[in-house]
Amino acid sequence: MVKVPLHGVEDRLAEDSRSTDDASRLTRWPVGRLFPIFAIIAIGLAVALVGAALFSLRPAVHPAWTDHELQLMESLWIANLPPLPPDPSNAVADDPRAAGFGHRLFFDPRLSDNGEFACSSCHQPDRRFSDGRLTGAALGESKRNTPSIVGTAYSPWLYWDGRKDSQWSQALSPLEDPIEQGGNRMALARLIAGDTEYRRAYTALFGTLPDLSDAGRFPAEAAPVPGTPFESAWNSMNPADRESVTRVFVNIGKAIAAYERLLMPGPSRFDRYVEAIVHRDASQAGTILSADEATGLRLFMGKARCIECHNGPLLTNNEFHNTGIISVPGKIPDRGRIDGIHMARGDPFNCLGAYSDDPEKDCAELRFARTGAEVVGALRTPSLRNLQGTAPYSHQGQTPSLGEMMRHYDRAPLALIGHNEAKPLGLSRRERAQLEAFLATLDAPLATAPQWLAAPP
Ligand code: HEC
Ligand code: HEC
Repeated sequence: MVKVPLHGVEDRLAEDSRSTDDASRLTRWPVGRLFPIFAIIAIGLAVALVGAALFSLRPAVHPAWTDHELQLMESLWIANLPPLPPDPSNAVADDPRAAGFGHRLFFDPRLSDNGEFACSSCHQPDRRFSDGRLTGAALGESKRNTPSIVGTAYSPWLYWDGRKDSQWSQALSPLEDPIEQGGNRMALARLIAGDTEYRRAYTALFGTLPDLSDAGRFPAEAAPVPGTPFESAWNSMNPADRESVTRVFVNIGKAIAAYERLLMPGPSRFDRYVEAIVHRDASQAGTILSADEATGLRLFMGKARCIECHNGPLLTNNEFHNTGIISVPGKIPDRGRIDGIHMARGDPFNCLGAYSDDPEKDCAELRFARTGAEVVGALRTPSLRNLQGTAPYSHQGQTPSLGEMMRHYDRAPLALIGHNEAKPLGLSRRERAQLEAFLATLDAPLATAPQWLAAPP
């Protein structure tokens, strides 16, 4: 019988018993003999901690800007905001009478099914035309966070997913959306016809209103909104009558858009800083932004790469990006732009549709919009002006604070849907605070005359 050599095992067992011996000897060591080691470690730690504290407490210094940084900085300056381009799809876009009419409509709760909700219920002037909620709420609960509408006249796309390509066509959605104002275009046309002031304003801008007195042809309430009681009444109408009512509805949207075009951000502390820098007044500039805020600006344009998407004087490229914002637990991930572009293309009120006033119907934005896998889970880049007091942030209000937003960008987590375009940044806690400090310098009173920022008298 062959004897299996057990040496290997025996050796290992012997080693194990030696090492337990070592371990038990170690635990029996008197503390006194260990003291020098403890002391060295403790002193080393203390030195490191004090060093780190001094390092992080050292005052930030005002950056000496490179030519490239100066160029980038000027590109964000509000003085470089171009004049608002005309909107040829809306013939009354820049008519002050339309803005006055739209102002009234924007604040009028009679434009909802129960008479309680106006645009201004969710887009509140004293909250930068947002509402401070996770998601908008009126007759029901919206799926998304209420964005500010300030400066959106510059955007070729409206909504987080860009499913609307003009301000006037956007304004039509909440009016009939059952979870927003839940109204119907027939009742809206009747409201305009029945209110002396509205009737006068409307006819001065758009010509005569249809005669809605024949109850056989024009029901009290009607709209092509699936699943509502208004739908069958709408379907019972003849196409020409539907068309004349839809025209009134569209004109309401065009007047509201004329008002929204007046809502513009004003120059902030950041803009005064750039102005001083441009005028080579470095000592003046140093009093406008703190060194931490200026360092935040440098990070924004450099290491943190924010400017890749948040660029131009409104700090948005008005494009769609996936930044890996995770959806609220229990809610399905937002498909964002991939659905938005299909909705925009199928919208009867889009740039190519019959209700646009533009005879050219160029519509390059709509025809050449990016689509496909790269826009899955992509949302519209929001402006970063006037973020103070508009928390929570992100498309479903998922991000409670700007500090949390900076942590998100620093980590750049994997997206639940599509892929996150942003990369981890490796920012220190202090750098995140500096970025946040910079964002606060973008806050300023609107450039809009105060009478537009409250309900009309
Ligand atoms: C229930 C609250 C609510 C009401 C009422 C409401 N909105 Fe909104 N609004 C929202 C929400 C939520 C969004 C974002 C929805 C989305 O992107 O899917 C939004 C988006 C917008 C946008 C797009 C902004 C951007 O940055 O893309 C504009 C413009 C706008 N609303 C104007 C209006 C107008 C005009 C009215 C009245 C006719 C109105 N809203 C009524 C909640 C509301
Ligand atoms: C790849 C493009 C991209 C980059 C890079 C980027 N952002 Fe954004 N940002 C977006 C988009 C898109 C959203 C909306 C995301 C959402 O809600 O899902 C957003 C949202 C935000 C918001 C929330 C605003 C609001 O009103 O809800 C803040 C604040 C913000 N970004 C700041 C920054 C800062 C600071 C950086 C640099 C650290 C940065 N972003 C880098 C595209 C980008």
